Amino acid sequence: MLYYPLVSLAHRGKFITFEGLDGTGKSTQIQKLAKALRALGQSVVVTREPGGTGTGEKIRHVILDSATTELSPMAEMALMFASRAQHIREVIEPGVAQGKIVLCDRFTDSTEAYQGSGRKLGNKAVLELHRILCGDLQPDLTILLDSDLATSVERARRRNVAKTAKAGRVHKDENRFEQENRAFFGRVRNGYLAIARRETGRVVVVDARGTPSQTHATILEVVKQKFRLNSKG
Ligand code: TYD
Repeated sequence: MLYYPLVSLAHRGKFITFEGLDGTGKSTQIQKLAKALRALGQSVVVTREPGGTGTGEKIRHVILDSATTELSPMAEMALMFASRAQHIREVIEPGVAQGKIVLCDRFTDSTEAYQGSGRKLGNKAVLELHRILCGDLQPDLTILLDSDLATSVERARRRNVAKTAKAGRVHKDENRFEQENRAFFGRVRNGYLAIARRETGRVVVVDARGTPSQTHATILEVVKQKFRLNSKG
């Protein structure tokens, strides 16, 4: 999909996605990587899905709000792709075309893992919709943060309880996904690992059970090697 035909391919940036179960520390790692890449002189855009655009953030609210009840799995998948199609058009493609490194918290692998495996819609529909609605855009690199199920789900819960306490509310504010059970997250994790086995050239699985600094060091090394990045001085 070429929206910016005048920009030379030589200056094309990179599109890097972060994936993993809720509570694997993706957002912390994205912030750390963004800081490190900026220190190397790179221009970095940090964004997320669902969301990342004005329209996308509205869609995000509908999808994640625990007050949204009885959303059918198909409607949920369609909303993920609606947000994504807009995001590609407004943020990802322009950023990459301008030579930036776009770091995105979740992309189509999330739909394959959560809707395809977790909600049992299968990966065929997801890949087909990705081809039609997203021009089959593939990240240059995907970091899959992997941790054991109990640790990541527990972390996500603690994070949300803390967020709610800060907001002065008493009830827990889990999003619609965090209310799912262990079996659901087990399917999501297996879905992710199956993607990693299939997409060996794109997906790198990083063990997220160490300290945030250890995980960051591993990720930075992967990124530097893959794109031969050194300080622009
Ligand atoms: P968020 O609070 O951003 O979770 P996290 O910080 O763990 O990324 O919520 C995003 C939720 O949306 C998360 O539970 C995964 C889910 N999701 C899908 O089910 N399918 C998708 O395609 C995407 C992008 C997210």
